[in-house]
Amino acid sequence: MLQKMDNIFSDFQAKIETLKKQADVLSLKSEVIGKKGTLAEILKSLKDATPEQRKTIGPKSNQIKQDIEKMVFDKIQQIELAEVNEKLEKSKIDFSLTDSVLAKGLQASGLHPVSQIQREIEDIFISMGFDVLDGPHIENEYHNFEALNIPDTHPARDMQDTFWFKDMKHLLRTHTSTIQVRGMESRKPPFKFVGPGKVFRCERTDATHEMCFHQLEGMMVGKDINVGNLIYFMKTLLKQIFKKDMEVRLRPGYFPFVEPGFELDIRWKKPGKGESEHSGWLELLPCGMVHPNVLKAGGIDPEEYNGFAFGLGLDRLVMVKYMIEDIRHLHSGDLRFNKQFKAY
Ligand code: FA5
Repeated sequence: MLQKMDNIFSDFQAKIETLKKQADVLSLKSEVIGKKGTLAEILKSLKDATPEQRKTIGPKSNQIKQDIEKMVFDKIQQIELAEVNEKLEKSKIDFSLTDSVLAKGLQASGLHPVSQIQREIEDIFISMGFDVLDGPHIENEYHNFEALNIPDTHPARDMQDTFWFKDMKHLLRTHTSTIQVRGMESRKPPFKFVGPGKVFRCERTDATHEMCFHQLEGMMVGKDINVGNLIYFMKTLLKQIFKKDMEVRLRPGYFPFVEPGFELDIRWKKPGKGESEHSGWLELLPCGMVHPNVLKAGGIDPEEYNGFAFGLGLDRLVMVKYMIEDIRHLHSGDLRFNKQFKAY
C-alpha cells in the first residue's frame, strides 16, 4: 500500500510538470486527492491493514496531500506569472520609458501645499496631546446643523450655502464642525482632538472664496477650560506655522455652537504691484467656548465640563504663508503653480 502511494505521488509529479493551464492543474489535483481520487481509493483498503501498517499509512497519506496542495499552489502561481508576461509581451508596454523620461528631467511629484500644511498642523497638535479624527463628506442634517445648536428654522443655516441631496436630508458637509459632534459621540471627557478635511459650500468664488475648500476643526473638553487656554493654543499654532509671532486680532464673532464666539483675523500682505498690493486683515480662524447645548447633544454634562472649539481655514492659511493672491490657484491643477512647492 505504501508503495502504491509512492507511485501515485511520483506519477502526479511527472504529470504536473507538463501542464500549462490552471484548469488542467486543478483537475489533476482532484483526480489524485479529490474525494473520489486515486489516493482515496487506496485508503479504502486501509480497513484490511494491520494496526502497525495503519500507524504509517495515515501520516504518509496526510503528507502526500500536503505536498500535492503545495505543488498545485506553486504551479498555479507559475502559470499566472507566465500569462501576465505573455500579455505584457503582446501589449508592447515599454517599461524603459519611465527611466528615459526621468533622465530627460521629469521631477518627482510632491504633496499639494494644502496637504503639506495640514500634516504640519496635525503634527503640532499631536505633539500637544491632541488626537486626529476624520469624518464623512456626506453628512446628515443632525451632524451638520442640529447637534450644533442650529435648528431647522435658525437663520444661521443661511450663513453657509449648502449643497443638499435630493432627499433634502443629506448634504455635503459645510464645515468640519461635524467632527466635533462625531468626536463627542465617540469619547468621554476630558479629551482634545483636531479634525481636518474638505468642506463644500454653494458659493460664488472669488480671490478668497472657493466652493470646495479645507478646514481643520479643533476641540478641547475638560474641567475649567477658559478663553486663556484657547488663545494659548491658537498662538502656539500660528507661531509654529509662521516661525514668528504673527499680528492677529480677536473680535467678537457669532456662531450658534459657541458662546462667547470670536473671529481671529491675521494681518497679511497681499502680493501684487502698485495699487493691487495691500496689507490687510484676513478672516482665518473662528473659535469660541463650546455652547452648553452642543455639549448636551454630545452626551456631556455642561454643569461638569466645558471646552473650546475652533475651525481653521487651511486654504487661507496657505495663502498667507506663501503670499498667494488668489485662492483659485490652489485648485487649478496648474503644474506651473504646483511645481513651486517643495516636494516632500
Ligand atoms: C465655520 O465654518 C465654523 N464651523 C468655524 C468654527 C468652528 C467656529 C468652531 C467656532 C467654533 P466659517 O464659515 O467662518 O466658520 O469658516 C471658517 C473658516 O473657513 C473661515 O475663517 C475661512 O478661513 C474659511 N472659509 C470660509 N469660507 C471659505 C471659502 N468659501 N473659501 C475658502 N475658505 C473659506
